[in-house]
Amino acid sequence: MNMDSKSILNGRPALSLKIEQIAEAAGYLWQKGWAERNGGNITVNITEYVDDAIRQLPAICEENPIGLTLPHLKGQYFYCKGTGKRMRDLARYPMDNGSIIRILDDCAHYVIVADQQVMPTSELPSHLLVHNWFLEIGSPYRATLHTHPIELVAMSHNKDFLKKDVLSQLLWSMIPETKAFCPKGLGIVNYQLPGSTILAQSTLKELQEYDVVMWEKHGVFAVDEDIMKAFDQVDVLCKSAQIYISAKNMGFEPDGMSQEQMKEMTIAFHLPK
Ligand code: 13P
Ligand code: ZN
Repeated sequence: MNMDSKSILNGRPALSLKIEQIAEAAGYLWQKGWAERNGGNITVNITEYVDDAIRQLPAICEENPIGLTLPHLKGQYFYCKGTGKRMRDLARYPMDNGSIIRILDDCAHYVIVADQQVMPTSELPSHLLVHNWFLEIGSPYRATLHTHPIELVAMSHNKDFLKKDVLSQLLWSMIPETKAFCPKGLGIVNYQLPGSTILAQSTLKELQEYDVVMWEKHGVFAVDEDIMKAFDQVDVLCKSAQIYISAKNMGFEPDGMSQEQMKEMTIAFHLPK
């Protein structure tokens, strides 16, 4: 990592490890082909790693509106990918391609506190609305990921796949592990303008039921305790999509696991539905 003497990461091994994990995940997104140019974004709630010295840090930008009022985020700190920044660059230099923000006491504005004036992702409303909900319900989830997985986005161009739980059932049936490691399946948000508060609100609604949400003709939004776990959920879904598409490319409709086989593994793995 590129760490000059002024980095907030210096002398903070736990926070450094957290940021290294984000950088590692960003590298995987690029290697997967899910992160063309600046595609996708990551935010992680890092408040548990924040000490008094960080709390004293002055703002290095003006107060910016979030576009939403989020009462549970008062005084919380987030690492955010910078808007327009590339995942492949973030993988090597996370503090040059993202920044640490503090949510102000009005719960409606944020400031950047470190390392540099890198403005956060344009999808900040979706990320922060979801983080607000995690704290509201006492969830252990701290990471949110938006990415553009090729096969899943391709499947979202077919209306039949967008009906409730059709895609979840299809993807789960391609290989047993998908249901085991993405047990809630894939929620669907119909096309909305990127970066909009309506997209944020629609995403939050689906996350009441699912850990991964499809943004029609755009990408997915995934949540979990840390960024690697959020990545894994998208990865297993995308693997299933690739198996489905490979079978179709060989000229046949894949059988999929039977309902009995799915039921058997749901019980064996103690899965929710
Ligand atoms: P940002 O560069 O603003 O994070 O936007 C990327 C993206 O995928 C928007 O949906
Ligand atoms: Zn996007």
